[in-house]
Amino acid sequence: NFPSSVKIVEVGPRDGLQNEKQPIAVADKVALVNALSNAGLKFIEAGSFVNPKWVPQMAGSEEVFAGIARKAGVSYAALTPNMVGFERAIAAGADEVAIFAAASEAFSQKNINCSIEESIERFAPILTAARAQNIPVRGYVSCIAGCPYEGDIAPSKVAEVSDILFQAGCYEISLGDTIGTGTPANIERVIELTNKKVPLEKLALHAHDTYGQAIANIYRAFQMGVSVFDSSVAGLGGCPYAKGASGNVATEDVIYLLNGLGIAHGVDLQAVITAGKNICASLGRVSQSKVARALSSE
Ligand code: HMG
Ligand code: MG
Repeated sequence: NFPSSVKIVEVGPRDGLQNEKQPIAVADKVALVNALSNAGLKFIEAGSFVNPKWVPQMAGSEEVFAGIARKAGVSYAALTPNMVGFERAIAAGADEVAIFAAASEAFSQKNINCSIEESIERFAPILTAARAQNIPVRGYVSCIAGCPYEGDIAPSKVAEVSDILFQAGCYEISLGDTIGTGTPANIERVIELTNKKVPLEKLALHAHDTYGQAIANIYRAFQMGVSVFDSSVAGLGGCPYAKGASGNVATEDVIYLLNGLGIAHGVDLQAVITAGKNICASLGRVSQSKVARALSSE
């Protein structure tokens, strides 16, 4: 009894690259975004308008947005932590923005330098401005299963923060298993409780694959009726403020799963594999996608 189709939110150009220490040329980032849109991905997080001192790799997000070949029907998104970031995102031409809160106080402090409550206050003017300009706002809740500083996080806290962001006007709440410690049992509990506040069709799962649980967690969420999944080409990614966090679940692996289940997604697997190969070559990295490795003829 799965949802009949799935929305994939490709976060590779943002979550996938934000943690890279080596400089990445704007041209490589632009080529990645274009390859992903050409592969059929309709939601692409192309950058992040955060403080460049905090996340230097995302400093060039204006240039990335200026350089991409915009494809009709594709939404190019960006993270915006505050009004400075929102203004930058709008000036750069972002189609939608994402605000990001956490279910962990300690993570909120480390990641965005304020408490959960203060972060909600900071997001309020973004939601107001976005509404006035018809810009959809997505809301992330990080640390839905575990926090690198606090350990286990109560599912009720995830539900509480999700409720606040949804009530405040986010069109979708992306539940972030930031350090990938979740397993189907506690992800189920988080979704169950959060769904008491936010409709299932407004929930997304943003799974990092640090403990190899991402596909299992996605499958469980999908069984429960969640139909939006965040993923990153080649399984790139991690958060600079979550030590040890590895990449997001690989887009290739999610697509393979969906193909096996016969679920529509509109994405060309081979084209994503090629996009992943190219960015991995630029980064000098091995793809973290098992599917990409299995299907690559080398
Ligand atoms: P702060 O230093 O407390 O900010 O940072 P501030 O308001 O005190 O400003 C300090 C200076 O930064 C000022 O400049 C501001 O203008 C400037 P100065 O007067 O010193 O010259 N500034 C900015 N410049 C450009 N763009 C901006 C901006 N904001 C302030 N937007 C802040 C607070 C939130 C900005 C900072 O902590 C920050 O940028 N944090 C972002 C951290 C981040 O990007 N983390 C990774 C993304 S979250 C993630 O990966 C999780 C997710 O994937 C889901 C999951 O996996 O769970 C989404
Ligand atoms: Mg993430």
